[in-house]
Amino acid sequence: MAKRKKIVIANWKMNLTVPESTVLIEKLKKEISGNLQLEVAVCPSFVDIYSASAELKNSKISIGAQNVAEEEKGSYTGEVSVLALKGFVKYILVGHSERRNIFGENDKVVAGKAETVVRHDMTPVICVGETLHEREDKLSKIVVLSQLEASCKQLTAEEISESIIAYEPVWAIGTGHVCLPEEAEKIAADIRGLIKSLYGEKAARLVHILYGGSVTAKTAKDFRYAKNIDGLLVGGASLDHHEFAAIVKNFSSEKKPKKGRK
Ligand code: 13P
Repeated sequence: MAKRKKIVIANWKMNLTVPESTVLIEKLKKEISGNLQLEVAVCPSFVDIYSASAELKNSKISIGAQNVAEEEKGSYTGEVSVLALKGFVKYILVGHSERRNIFGENDKVVAGKAETVVRHDMTPVICVGETLHEREDKLSKIVVLSQLEASCKQLTAEEISESIIAYEPVWAIGTGHVCLPEEAEKIAADIRGLIKSLYGEKAARLVHILYGGSVTAKTAKDFRYAKNIDGLLVGGASLDHHEFAAIVKNFSSEKKPKKGRK
């Protein structure tokens, strides 16, 4: 029976030049090696993906893209197509809150992007999350689930099974206010519940769910026992090689200690 694996993905956002990411990759390759029990990926900027893929060849680290065009090809000045990314990346983030909130991407666009990604045999990381206002109005669950349903609309049950959903509360991104693991676990369980009702038990069992938002090496530990959280999507802390390697290590450690044992 297929089983979910643990995944930690670094989102470098628009923070590094090509030479800077080359330096970071060199350091990460040294720190993240050996017999890894989980999947690790980094999402550099588009301009860096080509060289990063050469630098990470034969390493334990995969590559993701931070975004993709909805259309496959054509007159879309400034966009990057799934065809251009094919062969270089394994994962593609779609609907990151910065894309939704700064660049006005709506659920329909995100759904189109997710479909484009899966049809080209890459894994979409479909990001959802509520704003601070929505959280204060106790709308977290309803906002996240309605974003998710609309963003997955064009995927089949099988495609959803092979996708990743990232719960990234907007109020936790880049703020230092990490969501409590119990709170994130509750939303992750709701996400899995929605997938079950829309796509069936198998899809719900297989889909991977990540948490993202101000994760550090210290807080990564707290998420590893959350039943419905399979991984982490890390922004700021992934720009520091020691910190990111420590996140990977802390999140990957295996079994929950027995009660009463420290
Ligand atoms: P931070 O880890 O910097 O809060 O960013 C999270 C994020 O947006 C990852 O996609």
